[in-house]
Amino acid sequence: MAVFKLIPCLVLFALFSFDVGVAHPGFGFGWGSNGPSIGRTFSSGLFPQFYQFSCPQADEIVMTVLEKAIARNPRMAASLLRLHFHDCFVQGCDASILLDDSATIRSEKNAGPNKNSIKGFEVIDEIKAKLEQVCPQIVSCADILALAARGSTILSGGPSWELPLGRRDSTTASLNGANTNIPAPNSTIQNLLTMFQRKGLNQEDLVSLSGGHTIGVARCTTFKQRLYNQNGNNQPDETLERSYYYGLRSICPPTGGDNNISPLDLASPARFDNTYFKLILWGKGLLTSDQVLLTGNAGNIVELLNMGHDYSYSQPSKSEEYGGETADSIYSETEDLIRRDQAEIRYNYGEPVQYPPQPEALSKIACNRLQKELTEWQVNPPTGFRHKVNDNLQKWTIDVTGAPGTLYENETYQLQVEFPVNYPMEAPQAFFFPPGPLHPHIYSNGHICLDILYDSWSPAMTVSSVCISILSMLSSSPAKERPADNDRYVKNCKNGRSPKETRWWFHDDKV
Ligand code: HEM
Repeated sequence: MAVFKLIPCLVLFALFSFDVGVAHPGFGFGWGSNGPSIGRTFSSGLFPQFYQFSCPQADEIVMTVLEKAIARNPRMAASLLRLHFHDCFVQGCDASILLDDSATIRSEKNAGPNKNSIKGFEVIDEIKAKLEQVCPQIVSCADILALAARGSTILSGGPSWELPLGRRDSTTASLNGANTNIPAPNSTIQNLLTMFQRKGLNQEDLVSLSGGHTIGVARCTTFKQRLYNQNGNNQPDETLERSYYYGLRSICPPTGGDNNISPLDLASPARFDNTYFKLILWGKGLLTSDQVLLTGNAGNIVELLNMGHDYSYSQPSKSEEYGGETADSIYSETEDLIRRDQAEIRYNYGEPVQYPPQPEALSKIACNRLQKELTEWQVNPPTGFRHKVNDNLQKWTIDVTGAPGTLYENETYQLQVEFPVNYPMEAPQAFFFPPGPLHPHIYSNGHICLDILYDSWSPAMTVSSVCISILSMLSSSPAKERPADNDRYVKNCKNGRSPKETRWWFHDDKV
């Protein structure tokens, strides 16, 4: 990667001294495919051109709805990816997860792994409603879920894959199946291998599919045990990297805060890349089920993690290495499902979502997004941050308090976050009111050298995710000092120049 060495600075989690890679070598989900060419036949009877004549616009419609949904709520990409996983792991990819309670159905939505957790139904409804207008009763909900998972991956900067289509929707659901087949976050490596094996998936599939955790978040309740009582002896999980552990403690206090959230991939929470694997190698996997991929001593998992770590888009042949077998094993399961007599194509799910009215200064998308972020913040502010309420949606002033046990404990600084009219397509401008915390990545004029504020910004990120990254950056600082080039940089930043005009160079992967 060409690197412009104008401002050498150290930056949190900046791991980008190499080409962008993918989190999932061979990420075909098994339920999709990394098949090499158009026209490939699939043992399941599914094929990518299934809607070529009956609904050629299907994928385009899915993508249009997704783009808007993800712009409104950046986390939606992750939620839709997970929705597909939780559908497929119960009775195959048959959209059974969409069925509500009825006289004959006990909805999977109420299963432990899904209740108050699984999201994205309204987006699937919206896609379905649009498809029904254009090609009524043609596209199955199961295919919509698969298309939405692929589209969400692409829109998060991840790879695409050839997706065989033609699934049928189930008329049954299995609450019990959802409770027993979807792995728990505190699973041991053996649990995980067994549960994946039951679905015809092997160790390599487990590692590559776990890479779905390159985007999205998890609630404290799903990993708190690791912080305070991993093995029943009131001690934290010793496999947690120390600075990461302190950062997580600041988000998840010992009591309460169970619904506070932390990114599954702290380095690039909204970007589909391979940092998830790097973080695991560094002891920064969020869930037990993530970290045991490394610590569980299961055969060649370490080697696989390293391969995920090194994988890049320029090496398509590896997807065959990883994905080929997986695809076949899952297709045979899908084959049974689409042949079932009771399978049907469901339609007419609810009304499309209505959006609030358009304000003047910001674009409609920016305004909707910010209102939503603000509402979410009010309900669930990131720990250590306080938004100073004013009537300016475009400019937020936030108090940042250093996390307990860190160099900045009990110190409070003011962060200003200003949003461009086309937010979230463009990154916000964030800086500390000078002088800001003494930190190796924070200049005395308040400018912050943090990649997600510049090159690595993704529309799927939020003010909260920016704040969490800043707090982690502070928490992992080994010393209170300014960047080595502070004086030169600040001198050159005349007349309130925006930090976004700087060409930053990120080369530090420790702080
Ligand atoms: C290997 C076993 C797995 C376990 C134990 C697991 C567990 C979890 C848990 C506990 C959460 C957080 C839920 C919450 O806080 O409510 C989560 C989130 C997530 N999972 Fe997994 N998961 C696994 C595999 C997968 C796979 C295979 C994928 C997709 C390829 C996936 C995609 C996601 C995504 C994208 C999120 C974030 C969702 C969001 O932000 O809304 N997971 N997972």
